[in-house]
Amino acid sequence: MTIREIKSNEHGELENFLYEAIYIPDGQSKPPRKIIECPELQVYIKDFGTRDSDICFVAEVDGKIIGACWSRIMNDYGHIDDETPSLALSVLKNFRRKGIATALMKKILSHLAEKNFKQVSLSVQKENSAAVNLYRKLNFEIVDERGEEFLMTKNLEGKKF
Ligand SMILES: CC(C)(COP(=O)(O)OP(=O)(O)OC[C@H]1O[C@@H](n2cnc3c(N)ncnc32)[C@H](O)[C@@H]1OP(=O)(O)O)[C@@H](O)C(=O)NCCC(=O)NCCS
Repeated sequence: MTIREIKSNEHGELENFLYEAIYIPDGQSKPPRKIIECPELQVYIKDFGTRDSDICFVAEVDGKIIGACWSRIMNDYGHIDDETPSLALSVLKNFRRKGIATALMKKILSHLAEKNFKQVSLSVQKENSAAVNLYRKLNFEIVDERGEEFLMTKNLEGKKF
């Protein structure tokens, strides 16, 4: 497994990872794929690569991208202010629980810290215990509760990952 930055000709793959990042509670079926076309989700990927804060690391296995973590300053569910990138993350089902999300997150956090971003934020469904556990392990803090979601941040100043 290799963790590397996404290439510009791979930005289209973010559609898959955006779809995979949608939390599906146990027992519920997946929404139709065209859900990613709604404006609330398009903010995560539209014209990706055109902003300074557009950074994406992918995990590759046997030449196939199986996980992605990306940042962007955007008006998404996890927005805090116009200096703070929000994060999105997903790993394909067959590759979960192998430390891949942790490796992707460490890589992007370290990269964002090097680029002098002071903090990152994200929003996560309270029920999404896999993701909440992962973010807690990475020392994210819950700074707000918005309905069914936690808003979490992590300070990047002077940190090594
Ligand atoms: C959340 C997600 C990205 C985790 O990816 P992953 O590669 O499986 O995560 P890791 O293997 O790095 O797990 C790190 C830690 O997270 C927690 N965790 C991960 N999956 C978990 C699960 N199913 N149940 C409980 N805790 C879990 C554990 O604390 C784990 O550490 P451990 O394996 O030593 O116990 C993955 O489950 C996923 O893509 N889910 C769907 C999309 C999603 O929810 N994205 C986040 C939206 S905010």
